[in-house]
Formats: sequence, structure tokens, C-alpha cells
Amino acid sequence: MKLLKENTNILAIETSCDETAASVLRGSLKSVKPKFSILSSVVHTQINIHKKTGGVVPEVAARAHMKYILPATEKALADSKCALSNIDYIAVTSGPGLIVSLIVGTEFAKGLSLAAGIPLLPTNHMSGHLYSAFMSESASQFPMLSIIVSGGHTMFVLMKDYKNYRVIGSTVDDAAGEAFDKVARLLELPYPGGPAISKLARLGKTDIGFPRPMIHHQNFQFSFSGLKTAVLYYLDTLKKPISHKQKADIAMSFQNAVVDVLTAKAERAIAQFECKSVALSGGVAANAALRNSLNAMCKQKNILFAVPNIELCTDNAQMIAIAAYFNLRNGQKPVPAGKVRANPSWELK
Ligand code: KG4
Ligand code: ZN
Repeated sequence: MKLLKENTNILAIETSCDETAASVLRGSLKSVKPKFSILSSVVHTQINIHKKTGGVVPEVAARAHMKYILPATEKALADSKCALSNIDYIAVTSGPGLIVSLIVGTEFAKGLSLAAGIPLLPTNHMSGHLYSAFMSESASQFPMLSIIVSGGHTMFVLMKDYKNYRVIGSTVDDAAGEAFDKVARLLELPYPGGPAISKLARLGKTDIGFPRPMIHHQNFQFSFSGLKTAVLYYLDTLKKPISHKQKADIAMSFQNAVVDVLTAKAERAIAQFECKSVALSGGVAANAALRNSLNAMCKQKNILFAVPNIELCTDNAQMIAIAAYFNLRNGQKPVPAGKVRANPSWELK
């Protein structure tokens, strides 16, 4: 039985998609308010590997995870100056994500847990994005609207406090990041698509006026697949080859549509649930136009807006360590290694 320690050290491992990451967090399980610091964070990105194929090939990602997981973990421990013998818990992303990628991290963490006798905390990747809002330790105000926009998910989560939350909306088809990636492919932009679109969008001048799917629906559901199709149909009407200027207008117009939908729905959720703060996380949270739009809306309403630094929006192990820390404070118990399985469709509830 672990006692509630003042200094609890958590080693976190993340391999849900195409980043091999490890991080060490030290936090108090005794303090009334959350109190933690990140001792190290290592991310080995596979971007250069997947650039060649224009997207993530799962088996290629898994092989890269196998190559980098041990060096990333060793570096995270060395950087933290915390020996493995001083680690109290190992947290590992065991879902959702690509099954073959998840298996590498989960089985590695299980082996480490058994060999070193360290309790294991299977951790939900989306809860990592959710709790990454508290990365900056800025005072959080509840109720909080947490907007998670990643490659696989688009979610509105209503947080009553650090422990109690519920998903109030999600996408009925493509996730926001997925739409960015697919539109980037239509425009023949390099992988990864999201950053390429946002860079090109800065040069855009004329808004084409793509549809804002479900913007007037009173619920918090999203649909981005039709928007991508609208871009495809628009491209069909253009004389080839398409100029750089035309591509920039398309990128900007597409981005404006996504930003408008997310901002309008966020505004409605804030009013309906009387939110005192908004948090933005997930890979698409790196998008400057989205950050600026939500920031301006929150400023106008005089409510707090929290968003991780750009490099911490995309996948990393720091957010998994933070989620595990909050889960422990919320009463989560470790799971015997033999019972932990990678679960690619583990939904955040
Ligand atoms: O959270 P994340 O790293 O992985 C998942 O959990 O899915 O998110 C990756 C997604 C990709 O779709 C990527 O294109 C998108 O985040 N993304 C961006 C930007 N940077 C990354 N989308 C729009 N603008 C960006 N600057
Ligand atoms: Zn993610």
C-alpha cells in the first residue's frame, strides 16, 4: 500500500500515435491544491519518418517506438536526476490511439513495472490532453469548458472541478485535426497537414466562404467531413494548376470555417453552463488563429483562457504524467501489470 507522500515521482510513457515520449513529474498527493513540477520531458518525434509517406503508417510508427522507447525513458530519468528506484508510479498511455503504437508503450511499461516492482497506472490519452490545461498551474476557475481538438478527436468537456467532468459534445465524423490533415493532402501540402495549413493560411487574402457545419445547431456536436468535401468540390471548379495564392486563400478560408464553428459553439457552451474559464488542448490547439479567436472571445467575456505552450499541444508524455497525477489525487488505484491491455477505443467518459 502506497502512503500519500509529499513528493510522489511519476514516470510517464506515451506512444499512442507517432511521438515516442517519456517524462518525470514530482507532485504532492497531500497538498489541498494540486502542486507538481515537471522534472523532465523527452519527445522523439517521428515526423521525418512519416513525411516520406505523407502520413502515419502504423507498423512504421510501431517500429520507431520500439527503437526509441528505451532511450527516451533513460533520458527522461537522467534529465530528471531521479533514479528508477525513486519512481513511485509508472503511468502509460494505454488508449485511445493506434493499436500497434499503444502496444509498444503499454508492454514496455508493464515489463518495467514488473521488473522494478513499481505500480502501474494505465492512463487515457484524452485525459492527458484534458489535464494538460493545468500544465501552467494557472489558477483554474470552474465550471471550465475544456476544448480538446486533436487528430482523432474533437470534444467539449465540462469540468465541474479537478475530478468531475463530462463530455458534452464530440464530432459525428472527422475530427478537426483529421480535417486539417485531409485538406492539406488535397492541397498537396507536406505532412503534417495542420501546421502546413496554418502557415499557408497566413498568406490568404480572400475568404471563399466555405460552410460552417452545424454552427447553428443548439447541441455541441461537430461535423468536419462536409467542410473537407466543400474544399474538394471548390478545387474541382478551379483551372489547373492551382496557384500558391489560390491555395493560401483556400487554406485561410478552411481554417476560418473551423475556427468560427469552434468559437461560436464555445460561446454558447459558456453561456449555457455559466463557465468561468476555457481551456484549449490537443494538437490543433497549436493553431494560432484558433488560439487568438478563443482568447479574444474569453477576454471580451472577462473569463480565464488557458492553453499549453505550442510545443506541448501535440502529443507528449508530460501531459500523461499530469493526468496520472490528477487521477491519483482523484483516487485512482494502480492496476496489476497482468491486467493492463492496450485499448485503441478507450473513450473518455
Ligand atoms: O494531439 P495530437 O498531437 O495527436 C492526436 O492525439 O491526434 O494532434 C495531432 C493533430 C494533427 O491532425 C495535426 O495536423 C494537428 O494536430 N495540428 C494542427 C497544428 N499543429 C498540429 N492543426 C492545425 N494547426 C496547427 N498549427
Ligand atoms: Zn493527442
